[in-house]
Amino acid sequence: MLDHLFDRNLAWVQKKRLDDPDFFRRMGEQQSPNYLWIGCSDSRVTANDVLGLDPGEIFVHRNIANVVHTSDMNILAVLEYAVVHLKVEHIIVCGHYGCGGVERALSGESTALVDHWLQPIVMLYRKHRTVLDAIADRRARLDRMCEINIELQVRRLASTPIVEQAWLRGQELHLHGWIYGIHDGLIRALGAPVSSLDARDTLASIDARIVEPVEPVSVIRQHAIAAFEGLDSLEPPEGLDCCAEHSNRRPAP
Ligand code: CO
Repeated sequence: MLDHLFDRNLAWVQKKRLDDPDFFRRMGEQQSPNYLWIGCSDSRVTANDVLGLDPGEIFVHRNIANVVHTSDMNILAVLEYAVVHLKVEHIIVCGHYGCGGVERALSGESTALVDHWLQPIVMLYRKHRTVLDAIADRRARLDRMCEINIELQVRRLASTPIVEQAWLRGQELHLHGWIYGIHDGLIRALGAPVSSLDARDTLASIDARIVEPVEPVSVIRQHAIAAFEGLDSLEPPEGLDCCAEHSNRRPAP
């Protein structure tokens, strides 16, 4: 049963060893990723793939709709390990457009365990239902809610004692809210990173972001898409070629 997965594993090992004979020896050493990824469990959004990173380069936590529950032992244990022991410098909350979890939160359904999980998004939607329902296009409303959910989770993350203590210790720690487009593979940053208690405390409230967005995030996304027109014909920018980057890190032969 599932022989095809073992076959794929073998093929992957063979390819890795061909491309980089030293790969598994390096993997056997202690991991030292510089990023923590908090993403959705959606099978189409895998951190290493969308960022072009190798195993060992990013510490990952995923759950439905990338929710930061401050009573969730799972995420808190991951967060503490990443911040206190791995000392990652960047935490990325990356949601995605068309998120089924966020869509569920907007549906009014409340019959499953997942509806408990999604409660922070449900509450936010209920509170601002008039504004959000005024977005007539169903897909646009969902996408706006996907963006707002990421902003909400970054704020929740920034309010955890683990992150607060890191900043109070003077540890370098940047919180990023990103969104991934499943339909084009592109990631966009939603605003500037949050890198200190002061920065957190001067963020616009999530309510304000919904009611009076200074610039709707969706517009930022439109600009990003425009900037990426013709992407297919472009070579990857220098420094973004992951293979070149990794080869720099390898010990001299
Ligand atoms: Co999702």
